[in-house]
Amino acid sequence: MAQQLWGGRFGENGGQTSDCLTTLNCSLPTDARLFADDIDGSKAYAEALLRAGYLKTLDCEKICKGLELVRFDWIEGWIKFLNTDEDVHTVNERRLCEVVGEVALRLHTGRSRNDQVVTDLKLWLRKGIRETITSLCGVIKAAIQQATVHIGVLMPGYTHMQRAQPIQFSHWLLSHAFALREDCVRLTELRERANIMPLGSGAMAGNPLGIDRVWLAKRLGFSAATQNSMHAVGDRDFVVDFIYYCSLASLHLSRLAEDLIIYTTKEFDFIKIADAFSTGSSLMPQKCNPDSLELVRGISSSICANLTGIMMTIKGTPTTYNKDLQFDKQYCFSSFDQLQQSLRVTEGVIRTMDVHRHQMESALSPDMLATDWAYYLVRKGIPFRKAHHYIGDVVAHAEKMGVDITDISLGDLQKICPHFGVDILNLVDYQVNVEQYNVVGGTATKSITEQLKVLSVFVTDMLKSA
Ligand code: ARG
Repeated sequence: MAQQLWGGRFGENGGQTSDCLTTLNCSLPTDARLFADDIDGSKAYAEALLRAGYLKTLDCEKICKGLELVRFDWIEGWIKFLNTDEDVHTVNERRLCEVVGEVALRLHTGRSRNDQVVTDLKLWLRKGIRETITSLCGVIKAAIQQATVHIGVLMPGYTHMQRAQPIQFSHWLLSHAFALREDCVRLTELRERANIMPLGSGAMAGNPLGIDRVWLAKRLGFSAATQNSMHAVGDRDFVVDFIYYCSLASLHLSRLAEDLIIYTTKEFDFIKIADAFSTGSSLMPQKCNPDSLELVRGISSSICANLTGIMMTIKGTPTTYNKDLQFDKQYCFSSFDQLQQSLRVTEGVIRTMDVHRHQMESALSPDMLATDWAYYLVRKGIPFRKAHHYIGDVVAHAEKMGVDITDISLGDLQKICPHFGVDILNLVDYQVNVEQYNVVGGTATKSITEQLKVLSVFVTDMLKSA
Protein backbone atom coordinates (compact mmCIF):
# COMPACT_ATOMS: atom_id res chain seq x y z
CA MET A 1 0.00 0.00 0.00
CA ALA A 2 1.32 3.45 -0.90
CA GLN A 3 2.45 5.62 1.97
CA GLN A 4 1.95 9.30 2.56
CA LEU A 5 5.02 11.48 2.04
CA TRP A 6 5.24 12.03 5.75
CA GLY A 7 4.19 8.45 6.67
CA GLY A 8 7.36 7.40 8.54
CA ARG A 9 6.29 8.46 12.00
CA PHE A 10 2.77 7.09 11.82
CA GLY A 11 2.10 3.62 13.22
CA GLU A 12 -1.46 3.58 14.59
CA ASN A 13 -4.31 2.33 12.41
CA GLY A 14 -1.74 0.64 10.15
CA GLY A 15 -0.44 4.11 9.26
CA GLN A 16 -3.78 4.95 7.62
CA THR A 17 -5.46 8.35 7.87
CA SER A 18 -9.21 8.31 8.42
CA ASP A 19 -11.18 8.57 5.19
CA CYS A 20 -12.97 11.73 6.19
CA LEU A 21 -9.70 13.50 6.92
CA THR A 22 -8.19 12.24 3.68
CA THR A 23 -11.07 13.85 1.83
CA LEU A 24 -10.83 17.17 3.68
CA ASN A 25 -7.06 17.22 3.38
CA CYS A 26 -6.97 16.60 -0.36
CA SER A 27 -6.48 19.85 -2.27
CA LEU A 28 -5.99 18.25 -5.69
CA PRO A 29 -9.29 19.35 -7.21
CA THR A 30 -8.10 22.92 -6.66
CA ASP A 31 -4.34 22.88 -6.92
CA ALA A 32 -3.98 20.49 -9.87
CA ARG A 33 -3.92 23.61 -12.01
CA LEU A 34 -0.55 24.46 -10.48
CA PHE A 35 1.04 21.36 -12.02
CA ALA A 36 3.18 23.25 -14.54
CA ASP A 37 4.33 25.84 -11.99
CA ASP A 38 5.22 23.05 -9.59
CA ILE A 39 7.29 21.34 -12.28
CA ASP A 40 9.03 24.58 -13.26
CA GLY A 41 9.87 25.25 -9.60
CA SER A 42 11.16 21.71 -9.09
CA LYS A 43 13.41 21.81 -12.13
CA ALA A 44 15.00 25.03 -10.95
CA TYR A 45 15.35 23.61 -7.44
CA ALA A 46 17.08 20.49 -8.80
CA GLU A 47 19.59 22.76 -10.54
CA ALA A 48 20.12 24.66 -7.30
CA LEU A 49 20.81 21.36 -5.54
CA LEU A 50 23.32 20.49 -8.26
CA ARG A 51 25.07 23.83 -7.74
CA ALA A 52 25.12 23.24 -3.98
CA GLY A 53 26.64 19.77 -4.49
CA TYR A 54 23.64 17.72 -3.36
CA LEU A 55 22.88 16.31 -6.79
CA LYS A 56 25.25 14.88 -9.38
CA THR A 57 24.99 16.27 -12.90
CA LEU A 58 23.56 13.04 -14.25
CA ASP A 59 20.98 12.78 -11.47
CA CYS A 60 19.95 16.38 -11.99
CA GLU A 61 19.48 15.70 -15.69
CA LYS A 62 17.47 12.58 -14.90
CA ILE A 63 15.20 14.51 -12.54
CA CYS A 64 14.67 17.35 -15.00
CA LYS A 65 13.89 15.00 -17.88
CA GLY A 66 11.61 12.98 -15.61
CA LEU A 67 9.75 16.14 -14.61
CA GLU A 68 9.19 16.90 -18.29
CA LEU A 69 7.68 13.43 -18.71
CA VAL A 70 5.40 14.12 -15.76
CA ARG A 71 4.38 17.40 -17.38
CA PHE A 72 3.56 15.45 -20.53
CA ASP A 73 1.33 13.11 -18.49
CA TRP A 74 -0.64 16.06 -17.20
CA ILE A 75 -0.97 17.68 -20.59
CA GLU A 76 -2.12 14.44 -22.20
CA GLY A 77 -4.57 13.80 -19.36
CA TRP A 78 -2.84 10.53 -18.46
CA ILE A 79 -2.11 11.48 -14.87
CA LYS A 80 -3.93 9.28 -12.34
CA PHE A 81 -4.46 10.24 -8.72
CA LEU A 82 -4.04 7.80 -5.84
CA ASN A 83 -5.77 7.97 -2.47
CA THR A 84 -2.46 8.88 -0.90
CA ASP A 85 -1.98 11.89 -3.19
CA GLU A 86 -2.72 14.91 -1.06
CA ASP A 87 -1.97 17.69 -3.45
CA VAL A 88 -0.26 18.59 -6.70
CA HIS A 89 3.19 18.42 -5.08
CA THR A 90 2.71 14.86 -3.86
CA VAL A 91 1.39 13.77 -7.26
CA ASN A 92 4.35 15.25 -9.09
CA GLU A 93 6.84 13.73 -6.68
CA ARG A 94 5.22 10.29 -6.71
CA ARG A 95 5.00 10.31 -10.49
CA LEU A 96 8.62 11.41 -10.73
CA CYS A 97 9.62 8.46 -8.53
CA GLU A 98 7.71 6.13 -10.82
CA VAL A 99 9.39 7.61 -13.89
CA VAL A 100 13.01 7.99 -12.76
CA GLY A 101 13.21 5.78 -9.67
CA GLU A 102 15.29 6.31 -6.51
CA VAL A 103 17.01 9.48 -7.64
CA ALA A 104 13.70 11.34 -7.32
CA LEU A 105 13.99 10.94 -3.54
CA ARG A 106 16.76 13.57 -3.57
CA LEU A 107 14.68 16.37 -5.09
CA HIS A 108 12.98 17.46 -1.88
CA THR A 109 16.31 17.92 -0.05
CA GLY A 110 16.05 21.06 2.07
CA ARG A 111 12.70 21.94 0.55
CA SER A 112 9.32 21.84 2.22
CA ARG A 113 5.89 21.95 0.67
CA ASN A 114 5.53 25.15 2.69
CA ASP A 115 8.00 27.09 0.55
CA GLN A 116 7.11 25.04 -2.51
CA VAL A 117 3.40 25.83 -2.56
CA VAL A 118 3.75 29.55 -2.05
CA THR A 119 6.40 29.66 -4.78
CA ASP A 120 4.09 27.79 -7.15
CA LEU A 121 1.25 30.16 -6.42
CA LYS A 122 3.45 33.16 -7.10
CA LEU A 123 4.51 31.63 -10.40
CA TRP A 124 0.84 31.10 -11.27
CA LEU A 125 -0.04 34.64 -10.21
CA ARG A 126 2.10 36.14 -12.97
CA LYS A 127 0.00 34.33 -15.55
CA GLY A 128 -3.21 35.06 -13.69
CA ILE A 129 -2.39 38.76 -13.69
CA ARG A 130 -1.41 38.72 -17.35
CA GLU A 131 -4.69 37.08 -18.38
CA THR A 132 -6.74 39.39 -16.19
CA ILE A 133 -5.06 42.45 -17.67
CA THR A 134 -5.62 41.12 -21.20
CA SER A 135 -9.32 40.62 -20.50
CA LEU A 136 -9.65 44.03 -18.85
CA CYS A 137 -8.06 45.53 -21.96
CA GLY A 138 -10.62 43.62 -24.06
CA VAL A 139 -13.43 45.49 -22.31
CA ILE A 140 -11.59 48.81 -22.58
CA LYS A 141 -11.08 48.22 -26.30
CA ALA A 142 -14.77 47.45 -26.78
CA ALA A 143 -15.61 50.70 -24.99
CA ILE A 144 -13.14 52.61 -27.16
CA GLN A 145 -14.73 51.14 -30.27
CA GLN A 146 -18.29 52.12 -29.29
CA ALA A 147 -17.22 55.52 -27.98
CA THR A 148 -15.42 56.27 -31.25
CA VAL A 149 -18.36 55.26 -33.43
CA HIS A 150 -20.81 57.28 -31.34
CA ILE A 151 -18.94 60.51 -30.87
CA GLY A 152 -21.42 63.40 -30.93
CA VAL A 153 -24.31 61.34 -29.50
CA LEU A 154 -25.74 63.18 -26.50
CA MET A 155 -27.57 61.85 -23.48
CA PRO A 156 -28.54 63.10 -20.04
CA GLY A 157 -25.80 62.73 -17.44
CA TYR A 158 -27.18 61.77 -14.03
CA THR A 159 -26.34 62.37 -10.41
CA HIS A 160 -28.61 60.81 -7.77
CA MET A 161 -30.23 59.20 -10.83
CA GLN A 162 -31.72 62.63 -11.61
CA ARG A 163 -31.06 64.41 -14.89
CA ALA A 164 -28.09 66.67 -14.28
CA GLN A 165 -26.31 67.96 -17.39
CA PRO A 166 -26.13 66.97 -21.05
CA ILE A 167 -23.11 64.82 -21.83
CA GLN A 168 -21.87 62.70 -24.67
CA PHE A 169 -22.71 58.98 -24.60
CA SER A 170 -19.01 58.32 -25.23
CA HIS A 171 -18.09 60.30 -22.13
CA TRP A 172 -20.33 58.07 -20.03
CA LEU A 173 -19.01 54.87 -21.55
CA LEU A 174 -15.37 55.90 -21.19
CA SER A 175 -15.96 56.77 -17.52
CA HIS A 176 -16.25 53.02 -16.98
CA ALA A 177 -13.21 52.30 -19.15
CA PHE A 178 -11.12 54.59 -16.96
CA ALA A 179 -12.09 52.62 -13.86
CA LEU A 180 -10.91 49.44 -15.58
CA ARG A 181 -7.70 51.17 -16.57
CA GLU A 182 -6.97 51.71 -12.86
CA ASP A 183 -7.55 47.99 -12.30
CA CYS A 184 -4.85 47.23 -14.87
CA VAL A 185 -2.48 49.64 -13.16
CA ARG A 186 -3.09 48.03 -9.78
CA LEU A 187 -2.45 44.56 -11.15
CA THR A 188 0.73 45.67 -12.91
CA GLU A 189 1.98 47.11 -9.65
CA LEU A 190 1.13 43.88 -7.81
CA ARG A 191 2.97 41.82 -10.41
CA GLU A 192 6.14 43.72 -9.54
CA ARG A 193 5.60 43.77 -5.81
CA ALA A 194 4.70 40.09 -5.43
CA ASN A 195 7.50 38.85 -7.63
CA ILE A 196 9.79 37.90 -4.74
CA MET A 197 10.79 34.24 -4.38
CA PRO A 198 9.97 32.26 -1.21
CA LEU A 199 11.69 29.02 -2.34
CA GLY A 200 14.60 28.13 -0.11
CA SER A 201 12.71 29.10 3.04
CA GLY A 202 12.22 25.42 3.89
CA ALA A 203 9.47 24.62 6.35
CA MET A 204 10.11 28.00 8.01
CA ALA A 205 13.72 28.31 9.25
CA GLY A 206 15.46 28.68 5.90
CA ASN A 207 17.87 26.36 4.09
CA PRO A 208 20.98 24.91 5.74
CA LEU A 209 22.43 23.31 2.61
CA GLY A 210 23.94 26.32 0.90
CA ILE A 211 21.26 26.74 -1.79
CA ASP A 212 22.03 29.89 -3.78
CA ARG A 213 18.69 31.64 -3.44
CA VAL A 214 19.76 34.70 -5.35
CA TRP A 215 20.66 32.54 -8.33
CA LEU A 216 17.47 30.50 -7.89
CA ALA A 217 15.31 33.62 -7.83
CA LYS A 218 16.84 34.83 -11.06
CA ARG A 219 16.50 31.39 -12.63
CA LEU A 220 12.75 31.44 -11.93
CA GLY A 221 12.27 35.02 -13.11
CA PHE A 222 11.78 36.53 -9.65
CA SER A 223 13.26 39.93 -8.96
CA ALA A 224 14.67 38.87 -5.56
CA ALA A 225 14.52 36.26 -2.81
CA THR A 226 12.40 36.82 0.32
CA GLN A 227 14.36 38.12 3.30
CA ASN A 228 12.66 36.28 6.16
CA SER A 229 11.83 32.61 5.84
CA MET A 230 9.16 32.65 8.55
CA HIS A 231 7.38 35.52 6.85
CA ALA A 232 7.83 33.92 3.44
CA VAL A 233 6.05 30.62 4.15
CA GLY A 234 3.10 32.20 5.96
CA ASP A 235 2.65 35.24 3.75
CA ARG A 236 -0.51 35.27 1.63
CA ASP A 237 -0.87 39.03 1.42
CA PHE A 238 -0.29 38.87 -2.32
CA VAL A 239 -3.34 36.60 -2.59
CA VAL A 240 -5.39 39.11 -0.60
CA ASP A 241 -4.15 41.87 -2.89
CA PHE A 242 -4.99 39.92 -6.00
CA ILE A 243 -8.48 39.05 -4.79
CA TYR A 244 -9.06 42.62 -3.67
CA TYR A 245 -8.08 43.90 -7.10
CA CYS A 246 -10.35 41.30 -8.69
CA SER A 247 -13.15 42.37 -6.34
CA LEU A 248 -12.68 45.99 -7.24
CA ALA A 249 -12.69 45.20 -10.96
CA SER A 250 -15.86 43.15 -10.45
CA LEU A 251 -17.46 46.10 -8.67
CA HIS A 252 -16.60 48.30 -11.63
CA LEU A 253 -18.25 45.80 -13.96
CA SER A 254 -21.22 45.58 -11.61
CA ARG A 255 -21.76 49.34 -11.71
CA LEU A 256 -21.46 49.40 -15.49
CA ALA A 257 -23.94 46.52 -15.63
CA GLU A 258 -26.33 48.41 -13.38
CA ASP A 259 -26.22 51.49 -15.64
CA LEU A 260 -26.82 49.34 -18.69
CA ILE A 261 -29.68 47.44 -17.08
CA ILE A 262 -31.39 50.75 -16.37
CA TYR A 263 -30.69 52.02 -19.89
CA THR A 264 -32.20 48.90 -21.46
CA THR A 265 -35.56 49.32 -19.72
CA LYS A 266 -38.48 50.39 -21.92
CA GLU A 267 -38.68 53.54 -19.78
CA PHE A 268 -35.19 54.60 -20.91
CA ASP A 269 -34.64 52.55 -24.07
CA PHE A 270 -31.18 54.09 -24.58
CA ILE A 271 -29.53 50.74 -25.27
CA LYS A 272 -30.54 47.41 -26.76
CA ILE A 273 -28.56 44.36 -25.68
CA ALA A 274 -27.91 41.92 -28.53
CA ASP A 275 -29.95 38.73 -28.49
CA ALA A 276 -26.77 36.73 -27.94
CA PHE A 277 -26.48 38.39 -24.52
CA SER A 278 -30.16 38.34 -23.50
CA THR A 279 -32.62 35.65 -22.58
CA GLY A 280 -36.38 35.37 -22.69
CA SER A 281 -38.94 34.57 -20.04
CA SER A 282 -40.51 31.11 -19.83
CA LEU A 283 -43.83 32.78 -19.01
CA MET A 284 -43.95 36.19 -20.67
CA PRO A 285 -43.35 35.93 -24.42
CA GLN A 286 -42.54 39.62 -24.86
CA LYS A 287 -39.64 39.65 -22.38
CA CYS A 288 -36.03 40.17 -23.35
CA ASN A 289 -34.01 40.11 -20.17
CA PRO A 290 -30.51 41.49 -19.65
CA ASP A 291 -29.43 38.33 -17.80
CA SER A 292 -25.86 38.77 -18.94
CA LEU A 293 -25.60 42.02 -17.02
CA GLU A 294 -27.48 40.71 -14.01
CA LEU A 295 -25.02 37.84 -13.82
CA VAL A 296 -22.09 40.24 -14.06
CA ARG A 297 -23.62 42.23 -11.22
CA GLY A 298 -24.41 39.08 -9.24
CA ILE A 299 -21.06 37.36 -9.61
CA SER A 300 -19.27 40.35 -8.09
CA SER A 301 -20.83 39.39 -4.75
CA SER A 302 -19.16 36.04 -4.93
CA ILE A 303 -15.76 37.56 -5.76
CA CYS A 304 -16.10 39.97 -2.84
CA ALA A 305 -17.07 37.02 -0.63
CA ASN A 306 -13.77 35.40 -1.58
CA LEU A 307 -11.99 38.48 -0.29
CA THR A 308 -13.68 38.06 3.07
CA GLY A 309 -12.86 34.36 2.91
CA ILE A 310 -9.13 34.80 2.43
CA MET A 311 -8.93 37.54 5.04
CA MET A 312 -10.72 35.42 7.62
CA THR A 313 -8.44 32.50 6.78
CA ILE A 314 -5.37 34.54 7.53
CA LYS A 315 -6.76 36.31 10.58
CA GLY A 316 -6.51 33.39 12.97
CA THR A 317 -3.31 31.70 11.82
CA PRO A 318 -0.22 31.81 14.02
CA THR A 319 3.11 32.72 12.41
CA THR A 320 4.41 30.71 9.41
CA TYR A 321 2.54 27.96 7.61
CA ASN A 322 -0.70 26.44 8.89
CA LYS A 323 -2.93 24.15 6.90
CA ASP A 324 -5.72 26.74 6.86
CA LEU A 325 -3.64 28.41 4.17
CA GLN A 326 -4.39 25.55 1.80
CA PHE A 327 -7.74 27.26 1.14
CA ASP A 328 -5.98 30.29 -0.32
CA LYS A 329 -5.97 28.74 -3.77
CA GLN A 330 -9.71 28.16 -3.83
CA TYR A 331 -10.37 31.81 -3.16
CA CYS A 332 -7.68 32.90 -5.57
CA PHE A 333 -8.68 30.71 -8.53
CA SER A 334 -12.38 31.21 -8.02
CA SER A 335 -11.91 35.00 -8.05
CA PHE A 336 -9.79 34.80 -11.17
CA ASP A 337 -12.21 32.48 -12.99
CA GLN A 338 -15.30 34.44 -12.10
CA LEU A 339 -13.74 37.74 -13.08
CA GLN A 340 -12.64 36.25 -16.40
CA GLN A 341 -16.18 35.13 -17.15
CA SER A 342 -17.54 38.47 -16.15
CA LEU A 343 -15.05 40.37 -18.30
CA ARG A 344 -15.75 38.23 -21.37
CA VAL A 345 -19.49 38.71 -21.09
CA THR A 346 -19.13 42.43 -20.49
CA GLU A 347 -16.89 42.82 -23.52
CA GLY A 348 -19.42 40.94 -25.64
CA VAL A 349 -22.32 43.05 -24.39
CA ILE A 350 -20.52 46.29 -25.16
CA ARG A 351 -19.30 45.23 -28.57
CA THR A 352 -22.73 44.11 -29.73
CA MET A 353 -25.12 46.55 -28.08
CA ASP A 354 -27.24 48.98 -30.10
CA VAL A 355 -27.08 52.62 -29.10
CA HIS A 356 -30.39 54.47 -29.53
CA ARG A 357 -29.30 57.98 -30.36
CA HIS A 358 -32.80 59.30 -30.84
CA GLN A 359 -34.01 58.06 -27.45
CA MET A 360 -31.01 59.44 -25.63
CA GLU A 361 -31.27 62.85 -27.20
CA SER A 362 -35.03 62.97 -26.71
CA ALA A 363 -34.44 62.49 -23.00
CA LEU A 364 -32.60 65.81 -22.79
CA SER A 365 -34.70 68.62 -21.38
CA PRO A 366 -34.14 72.39 -21.24
CA ASP A 367 -33.89 72.42 -17.42
CA MET A 368 -30.57 70.61 -17.92
CA LEU A 369 -29.23 73.84 -19.43
CA ALA A 370 -29.68 75.71 -16.16
CA THR A 371 -26.06 75.26 -15.08
CA ASP A 372 -24.79 76.56 -18.39
CA TRP A 373 -27.08 79.56 -18.12
CA ALA A 374 -25.56 80.31 -14.74
CA TYR A 375 -22.11 80.13 -16.37
CA TYR A 376 -23.43 82.48 -19.05
CA LEU A 377 -24.08 85.09 -16.36
CA VAL A 378 -20.70 84.35 -14.78
CA ARG A 379 -19.09 85.20 -18.13
CA LYS A 380 -20.93 88.53 -17.94
CA GLY A 381 -19.10 89.18 -14.66
CA ILE A 382 -21.73 88.08 -12.14
CA PRO A 383 -20.45 86.12 -9.10
CA PHE A 384 -21.43 82.44 -9.41
CA ARG A 385 -23.50 82.34 -6.23
CA LYS A 386 -25.60 85.24 -7.49
CA ALA A 387 -25.83 83.76 -10.99
CA HIS A 388 -27.02 80.50 -9.44
CA HIS A 389 -29.77 82.45 -7.69
CA TYR A 390 -30.87 84.28 -10.81
CA ILE A 391 -31.16 81.04 -12.74
CA GLY A 392 -33.03 79.53 -9.80
CA ASP A 393 -35.54 82.38 -10.25
CA VAL A 394 -35.68 81.66 -13.99
CA VAL A 395 -36.43 77.98 -13.33
CA ALA A 396 -39.08 78.87 -10.72
CA HIS A 397 -40.66 81.33 -13.16
CA ALA A 398 -40.75 78.68 -15.92
CA GLU A 399 -42.34 76.19 -13.54
CA LYS A 400 -44.96 78.71 -12.48
CA MET A 401 -45.82 79.47 -16.10
CA GLY A 402 -45.74 75.78 -17.05
CA VAL A 403 -43.09 76.33 -19.76
CA ASP A 404 -39.44 75.45 -20.35
CA ILE A 405 -36.75 77.98 -19.45
CA THR A 406 -35.99 78.28 -23.16
CA ASP A 407 -39.57 79.48 -23.78
CA ILE A 408 -39.24 82.56 -21.55
CA SER A 409 -38.97 85.78 -23.54
CA LEU A 410 -35.81 87.85 -23.37
CA GLY A 411 -37.82 90.67 -21.77
CA ASP A 412 -38.96 88.40 -18.94
CA LEU A 413 -35.44 87.07 -18.49
CA GLN A 414 -34.12 90.61 -18.22
CA LYS A 415 -36.73 91.36 -15.57
CA ILE A 416 -35.12 88.63 -13.49
CA CYS A 417 -31.57 89.68 -14.35
CA PRO A 418 -30.71 92.65 -16.57
CA HIS A 419 -27.51 90.97 -17.72
CA PHE A 420 -29.36 88.59 -20.01
CA GLY A 421 -28.71 89.50 -23.65
CA VAL A 422 -29.82 88.14 -26.96
CA ASP A 423 -26.75 85.87 -27.02
CA ILE A 424 -28.48 83.61 -24.46
CA LEU A 425 -30.14 82.15 -27.54
CA ASN A 426 -26.79 80.55 -28.40
CA LEU A 427 -27.22 78.40 -25.32
CA VAL A 428 -30.42 76.61 -26.17
CA ASP A 429 -28.64 73.99 -28.25
CA TYR A 430 -27.42 70.96 -26.29
CA GLN A 431 -24.58 70.28 -28.67
CA VAL A 432 -23.22 73.81 -28.23
CA ASN A 433 -23.49 73.46 -24.47
CA VAL A 434 -21.63 70.19 -24.43
CA GLU A 435 -18.84 71.56 -26.58
CA GLN A 436 -18.10 74.22 -23.96
CA TYR A 437 -16.75 71.49 -21.68
CA ASN A 438 -13.45 71.24 -23.47
CA VAL A 439 -11.13 71.00 -20.49
CA VAL A 440 -9.00 67.93 -19.99
CA GLY A 441 -11.49 65.31 -18.80
CA GLY A 442 -14.55 67.18 -20.08
CA THR A 443 -17.42 66.04 -22.25
CA ALA A 444 -16.62 68.14 -25.36
CA THR A 445 -15.58 66.25 -28.49
CA LYS A 446 -12.05 67.62 -28.16
CA SER A 447 -11.75 66.21 -24.62
CA ILE A 448 -13.27 62.88 -25.54
CA THR A 449 -10.89 62.52 -28.48
CA GLU A 450 -8.08 63.03 -26.00
CA GLN A 451 -9.55 60.42 -23.65
CA LEU A 452 -9.74 57.96 -26.53
CA LYS A 453 -6.11 58.62 -27.36
CA VAL A 454 -4.99 58.16 -23.75
CA LEU A 455 -6.88 54.89 -23.44
CA SER A 456 -5.69 53.53 -26.79
CA VAL A 457 -2.06 54.21 -25.96
CA PHE A 458 -2.57 52.68 -22.52
CA VAL A 459 -4.09 49.48 -23.90
CA THR A 460 -1.35 49.10 -26.51
CA ASP A 461 1.35 49.54 -23.84
CA MET A 462 -0.40 47.17 -21.44
CA LEU A 463 -0.78 44.41 -23.99
CA LYS A 464 2.81 44.81 -25.08
CA SER A 465 4.11 44.43 -21.52
CA ALA A 466 1.55 41.78 -20.43
N1 ARG B 1 -1.30 21.46 -0.14
C1 ARG B 1 -0.67 22.32 0.79
C2 ARG B 1 -1.18 23.75 0.59
O1 ARG B 1 -1.71 23.98 -0.42
C3 ARG B 1 0.80 22.28 0.60
C4 ARG B 1 1.58 22.61 1.82
C5 ARG B 1 1.49 21.51 2.81
N2 ARG B 1 2.39 21.70 3.89
C6 ARG B 1 2.33 20.96 4.98
N3 ARG B 1 3.18 21.21 5.89
N4 ARG B 1 1.40 20.06 5.13
O2 ARG B 1 -1.05 24.59 1.42
